[in-house]
Amino acid sequence: MTATAAAPAAPGVRDDDLLRVEAVDGGHGSTAVLFGVSLGVPRNGLCCLMGRNGVGKSTVLQTIVGLLKARRGRIVFDGDDVTKLKPYDRARAGIAFVPQGRDCFPQLTVRENLRVVQEARRDLPKSGIDDALDLFPRLKPLLDRPAGFLSGGQMQQLAIARALVTQPRLLLLDEPTEGIQPNIILEIEDAIEQLKRTAGLSILLVEQYVDFALRLAERYAVMDGGRVIDAGDTAGLADGHVRRLLAV
Ligand SMILES: Nc1ncnc2c1ncn2[C@@H]1O[C@H](COP(=O)(O)OP(=O)(O)O)[C@@H](O)[C@H]1O
Ligand SMILES: [Mg+2]
Repeated sequence: MTATAAAPAAPGVRDDDLLRVEAVDGGHGSTAVLFGVSLGVPRNGLCCLMGRNGVGKSTVLQTIVGLLKARRGRIVFDGDDVTKLKPYDRARAGIAFVPQGRDCFPQLTVRENLRVVQEARRDLPKSGIDDALDLFPRLKPLLDRPAGFLSGGQMQQLAIARALVTQPRLLLLDEPTEGIQPNIILEIEDAIEQLKRTAGLSILLVEQYVDFALRLAERYAVMDGGRVIDAGDTAGLADGHVRRLLAV
């Protein structure tokens, strides 16, 4: 026995995960929102982060990309501690973020929305836009339309396509199905599945639709009151377990 044995890893976090959020406290300005949040995104896998409105899910994503500060704890990406890196450097390291509400420039066309990302990052290969469009063929006939005229589903696809232009290794998706009609939700599910399978991406998905999320996920985490109250592998998860937690 040694006196300095390492603390056991939190449930739902593994040493070889692409992203590890370790015991992070954070919040907005002086408002504390997150308390000891730990979760992991497996390499080439998907972790779904669930919880009712206001529990801190979006705050977790904003802290991972560096828009908000972690007051305690660490964020480790591909073995490197990125906790103190600026958002731009985290993006360059391969972390892309699609915020809730699918930010696009409404006056710019679909093509321009994609080009803006490409222009901002001259280190990126030119094929990024075509690859992103191949995943969302519905956007191809809309390239010259201002983004403000797209439907909610089309705009969500554009928001994800914009993130893909940066050719990330980790994609953070904040409620991509919110307010979107069911047939487009299925297309987004297909696209996420394809990103994992063919592009080798790892994904952290914040999602209210439990069935949708669990169909795609190898890992899950459930939050309440700024804390992770349960996390682990989805394999062998008892039917209704997550639903019971969410009904607390
Ligand atoms: N910009 C902000 N300033 C202050 N508090 C905020 C801000 N955004 C969110 N919060 C608060 O942080 C908590 C968690 O919010 P959020 O992370 O958006 O939850 P979720 O994404 O799970 O719905 C809520 O209590 C919310 O009121
Ligand atoms: Mg949110």
